[in-house]
Amino acid sequence: MSGADTRILVLHGPNLNLLGTREPEVYGSDTLQDVDKGLNLLARELGVEIDTVQSNHEGELIDRIHAAREQGICGILINPGGLTHTSVALRDALAAVAIPAVEVHLSNVHAREPFRHHSFISPVAVGQICGFGVASYQLALRGLVMHLTK
Ligand code: DQA
Repeated sequence: MSGADTRILVLHGPNLNLLGTREPEVYGSDTLQDVDKGLNLLARELGVEIDTVQSNHEGELIDRIHAAREQGICGILINPGGLTHTSVALRDALAAVAIPAVEVHLSNVHAREPFRHHSFISPVAVGQICGFGVASYQLALRGLVMHLTK
């Protein structure tokens, strides 16, 4: 697969719309717009196309994952937010479409409360990147594109 026909869906889960004002000591002061701007710049550099979506609703995220198959999406970059630690349904949606996905988190979930140490998503993901703040997204996009174009 060449970069030019590589379409990637970026999914931001619950509460990520509040980035910038939400617990800045944990998640930093960049907004979701800043994150998407950085991803768009990197996507251009890597020669891939990205669509970004944020939703606070589990069902909407699942619908977007289902639709990705018909839309010719080749890879999914997903920060499932709190659904990481609770959602069998989101995990099943990713497994059902079998589109390579990379799980991303701003914070190092493994160094936080024990309930954040378990991810329902990791077993169906190509890999997980966490702990680098906004740079986690850049690393995750690079990793996903590398995986898709190898
Ligand atoms: C998060 C980590 C989750 O545990 C939390 O519920 C979030 C954000 C992160 O990006 O660090 O909403 O996914």
